Amino acid sequence: MHSRQIRQSFLDFFAAKGHSVVRSAPVIPAGDPTLLFTNAGMNQFKDVFLGKGSRPYSRAADTQKCIRASGKHNDLEDVGRDTYHHTFFEMLGNWSFGDYYKDEAIAWAWELLTEVWKLPKERLYATVYHDDDESFRIWEEKTSIDPSHILRFGDKDNFWEMGETGPCGPCSEIHIDLTPDGSGKELVNAGDHRAIELWNLVFIQYDRQPDGRLEPLPQRHVDTGMGFERVCAVLQAKASNYDTDVFRPLFGRLTELTGVAYGATMEGRQDIAMRVIADHARTLTFALSDGAMPSNEGRGYVLRRILRRALRYSRDLGCTGPVLHRLVGTLADSMGDVFTELRDRREAVERIIKAEEESFILTLDRGMEIFSELSAATLKAGRKMLGGEDAFKLYDTYGFPFDLTRLLAEEAGLEVDGEGFEHCMQQQKARARSDRKEKQQAGGDGGSWRWFRESHSTEFCGYDRLEMEAQVIGAAHSKENLLLVLDRTPFYAESGGQTGDRGWLESEAYRMEVVDTQKDGDSFVHVVGRAFDKVRDTEIAAADIAMDEAVTLEASVERSLRQETERNHTATHLLHAVLRRILGEHVQQKGSYVTAERLRFDFSHFSKLTPEEIESVEMEVNSQIRQAAHVEKHADLAYDEAIGKGALAFFGDKYADRVRMVEVPGISAELCGGTHVDNIGQIGLFKIVGESSAAAGIRRIEALTGRAAEELLWREYRELQEVRRQLKLRSDESAALKVAELQDEKKELDRELASMRSASVVDALLREADASLAVAGCRIVTKVLEGADAESLRNAAGALREKLPLSTGLLCGLADGKVSLAAFSSDEAVKEKGIDAGKLIRMAAAAVKGGGGGKPELATAGGKDPLGAVEACRIFEEEVRRILAG
Ligand code: ALA
Repeated sequence: MHSRQIRQSFLDFFAAKGHSVVRSAPVIPAGDPTLLFTNAGMNQFKDVFLGKGSRPYSRAADTQKCIRASGKHNDLEDVGRDTYHHTFFEMLGNWSFGDYYKDEAIAWAWELLTEVWKLPKERLYATVYHDDDESFRIWEEKTSIDPSHILRFGDKDNFWEMGETGPCGPCSEIHIDLTPDGSGKELVNAGDHRAIELWNLVFIQYDRQPDGRLEPLPQRHVDTGMGFERVCAVLQAKASNYDTDVFRPLFGRLTELTGVAYGATMEGRQDIAMRVIADHARTLTFALSDGAMPSNEGRGYVLRRILRRALRYSRDLGCTGPVLHRLVGTLADSMGDVFTELRDRREAVERIIKAEEESFILTLDRGMEIFSELSAATLKAGRKMLGGEDAFKLYDTYGFPFDLTRLLAEEAGLEVDGEGFEHCMQQQKARARSDRKEKQQAGGDGGSWRWFRESHSTEFCGYDRLEMEAQVIGAAHSKENLLLVLDRTPFYAESGGQTGDRGWLESEAYRMEVVDTQKDGDSFVHVVGRAFDKVRDTEIAAADIAMDEAVTLEASVERSLRQETERNHTATHLLHAVLRRILGEHVQQKGSYVTAERLRFDFSHFSKLTPEEIESVEMEVNSQIRQAAHVEKHADLAYDEAIGKGALAFFGDKYADRVRMVEVPGISAELCGGTHVDNIGQIGLFKIVGESSAAAGIRRIEALTGRAAEELLWREYRELQEVRRQLKLRSDESAALKVAELQDEKKELDRELASMRSASVVDALLREADASLAVAGCRIVTKVLEGADAESLRNAAGALREKLPLSTGLLCGLADGKVSLAAFSSDEAVKEKGIDAGKLIRMAAAAVKGGGGGKPELATAGGKDPLGAVEACRIFEEEVRRILAG
């Protein structure tokens, strides 16, 4: 069976058992700060398991794109060295959300494996959690498995957890014995590739708390996961996943590129390299196609490490240039029919990977040299461990991720001081941690909840209503706020980059101001900031309101803020469409933030926008606004239908199978749950106020619309009017030209003023010099001048040496905390007395912590210490006296 048929037969099997076949979620999880990458099929259903969300179906099946390269489930280091680990893989899964449980899950798994796929029963083993007698009995009674093949294991093998916290429960796994003689019973769960796990059936019952407690869930669920590549290997009777048709196209392409053929050995250096490259190319291509970017933090850094690890291995195939990006097209061709994003994003992904490869290659060779030096020095010193600081230097200066250094060290017979490295890294880590925590808290619910109804879901009615009656179904207090969940609401809760609505909730007793609305699963949390006691007619603290029952309220959204927000949101869609038209199709939304005040839009693009580009984007958006097209909101479309109509879907957003599409016909179509104006003419005006870099390869535009844009333009216009009035301009005169003229004039005046000033300084100095002492007929002038800059000093020194026949001198100017020095020596002083201003100024400058020099006739210097100016003069004079005396 071809891998494509295997995938399809899995989905068909479960569809026939009443499961909805759903799309894979992106590998970049939406809205879960505890997870860098989607690492299991159940991630997209976490909210359902926790009782916080719901789906229109209670049984589902899919193939989920997974990455396991960080956190609790991390296989990165093993990839390549054996023949069965991957950082990217597909997980086939079926789910029950409070629907069927262990009986069906076990019986159907057995049916698919043995009746549809016809795997030999005598080769299959089932494991169960040590005290899960129920599952044990089901295997015994409901399947035809050999009872001696049902094995019990403990927490490590048969209790599955998503991460440090979250849904979890006992599981039952199906393993297959691949030994030639079927003697693999002892190898089950022994880490031996001759007896491997095929399928994991998890019975989700608990929510693991941060303090380690297991909190029982309101309902019990089934979550299963089967490694797609493994099952392909088994069904295609291949010795390893890498020998299946899933990887064949990648190896074929690598052979074309390098001339090296895949030999399928476990230890062969080039075979290892080919596995690493094929696996990592998949991870990078899928992650980038879902919108991730390599970077120096979090998820982006994991990707960067993976890319660098692969590049290092590519050297073993004789590659010196970038190679990974050339596999993107191979994947798009071989898997793009199932995962269409690979085709859609192909060019952009190729470009990003290529740029990353090129930039690392620049330092790779130099880093390898440094590594060789460091490791040679370590060995020579009789040590077996490369220092943590060395590893950090390689990381910091040459971009070598720690695992890359360890890899190289291993090859050189060395260990690396991980603790020392970690120590050096701590600060960076701390920063990333606090960032994550902040995000987590922003979505958190604070205090403990009191619920007045069984259902915690809120029905959102705010697309067409801004006021309605509603009932409180849950309440909690957090810090200064009262948090209320209503059964239905016109308040939009923050999501998709649009901020939550503000407004009022009014009961008989209170008038409460909602300062924010947030979503927690299906619950809309209204954050009450201030409140008024209507009976006593006073303001009271929101925290003092006890809300203990299902009170009925009048909920009303602050209309003007909502409208401003809608203008900004619809304008964001127009901006996006126009950017794609003007800059190119590679422009993809990378983030947006829409409030009542302004909009911010981040998008992929490689260079700063020119002023002309900004202007034409702005003009184009405004010209569309003037067309006043109607905004069509399609409330409930099948995802594929919406995409078929050309709707853009974005990274960071989580889409259900039924989606909402916001369309401005002929201009823009996006999947979007946000609120929008009815007619783009309502936006009124669009004004870009900022263009900057948001991250590598990502630009940010900030803009205003409607009244805010108008106010900005008015402010600027009024100011310009005022400027014109003060300049007394006629209506046909340009303010800009006039200002330029005035500036030229000012410069000229400044120059004149400076020359007059130095002339008067010179006059004053000459008068002083006349009265000053002469040693052996030579006048010595030393003077500290406040406010004199280097240029006027040099002029003054030049004038003095002309006017005083036999003279020398040092002028010190103090301005802006700095010292300027100018020394001179008249022609006679140089010739007859051998007084060299250049030499003297160097000695004097030391007193002001500075340096300088010049000719014997005229020299200048600068210094940092104004307090030393008098001392500099003294040194100068003393030295001159010494010369004259000699
Ligand atoms: N969630 C389970 C796993 O990942 C099925 O193994």
